[in-house]
Amino acid sequence: MTESIAVIFGGPSDEHDISILTGLQSSRILSSKYDVLNIYWSKENKWYLVKNDLESIDFVDNSDIFKNELTIKYDSKSGFYLKKKKITFKIAVNACHGGPGEDGTLQSLLSLLKINYTGPTLTTSQIGMDKFVFYTLMKESGIPVLDKHLVSINSKPDFSGPYILKPRFGGSSIGVEVVEDYETALKLTSNSRIYSQGSTVEKFLENSHDLLIGIRTYPNLDFSEIEKPIRTSNFELFSYNDKYLDNGGLEGSKRELPANISPEIQTQIQEILKLFVKQIEIRGISRVDFLYHNESLYLNEVNTIPGSHALYLWQNIGKSKFELLNDMVEEAKNNNTHWSTVGSDGVALKSAKDIQSKLG
Ligand SMILES: Nc1ncnc2c1ncn2[C@@H]1O[C@H](COP(=O)(O)OP(=O)(O)O)[C@@H](O)[C@H]1O
Ligand SMILES: [Mg+2]
Repeated sequence: MTESIAVIFGGPSDEHDISILTGLQSSRILSSKYDVLNIYWSKENKWYLVKNDLESIDFVDNSDIFKNELTIKYDSKSGFYLKKKKITFKIAVNACHGGPGEDGTLQSLLSLLKINYTGPTLTTSQIGMDKFVFYTLMKESGIPVLDKHLVSINSKPDFSGPYILKPRFGGSSIGVEVVEDYETALKLTSNSRIYSQGSTVEKFLENSHDLLIGIRTYPNLDFSEIEKPIRTSNFELFSYNDKYLDNGGLEGSKRELPANISPEIQTQIQEILKLFVKQIEIRGISRVDFLYHNESLYLNEVNTIPGSHALYLWQNIGKSKFELLNDMVEEAKNNNTHWSTVGSDGVALKSAKDIQSKLG
């Protein structure tokens, strides 16, 4: 019998819409091998089992999405339930970006429900989401990073502006602003909800550019090609528009792939990443973003569940989308460092097809 897996996407996050694209794509690709259940996590923090043939537009104006609400039971028969029936699946593929889907919250829920999941563990999720903690860990590990300062009225950075202000817990360039001086950073931080959990500043590197690389550690340590995104807006930053809006999602963004960079920089990036994976446990497919400025390289951030799982970064080097996602699922199956078994009790429907056929 074909195994069942679930793809979870959406979530109460600023990146909810992008996650729908990642989720539907993952589900479509994995359905060549698995019976795939699509679990939609709404912005309102509700869970729905949705049909497999949906398009992203259905999540805007198709009320059928909300027909089959799931409940979560946390007891000896823990799991997701459609009315009184438990829906069973071997692995949850986490296709959520930002917010509770990427910051460790969903990871904790799935761990407690004894459901194996793809992607980062609770700890890596939290480190990856907290720009200041991540910076500190990297710095202590001898990895080149730009000096960062936590914005506070009680302290000033010991480097000069202009600065780039970022929400401490953020993503997708939302709330990333260039400010001339520290006063402005303080004002913006106290005036906007975006920075309510804190903010950081670092030196704004004029004429820098991003270099992005996919990384996975299963079945072996493996790197994608390096991408240099092309910025399209007048604004200097690689922005949310560049990433998601201008060209129909991350896969359509303008880019140099592979980036036209020297073999020395490529080697330097790979050497840094070998050190990086010793400090932080990478599971699934992550994307590590570097800043390159005046012949210096800085590790900027890790995206532990990047948009579209950054599958496009591997397309030229013979790694198909299916292979990458399939490996990610295998990795989650074999992962017994946390919870190794899916709860097997409860009145289970037999397969994803069985469940699909019962949907209204
Ligand atoms: N210090 C910097 N100097 C110049 N540009 C930067 C700097 N830090 C970030 N950027 C630009 O801003 C973008 C968003 O910043 P990033 O740290 O990646 O935040 P987010 O988590 O929102 O993606 C980066 O992709 C890069 O283009
Ligand atoms: Mg970024």
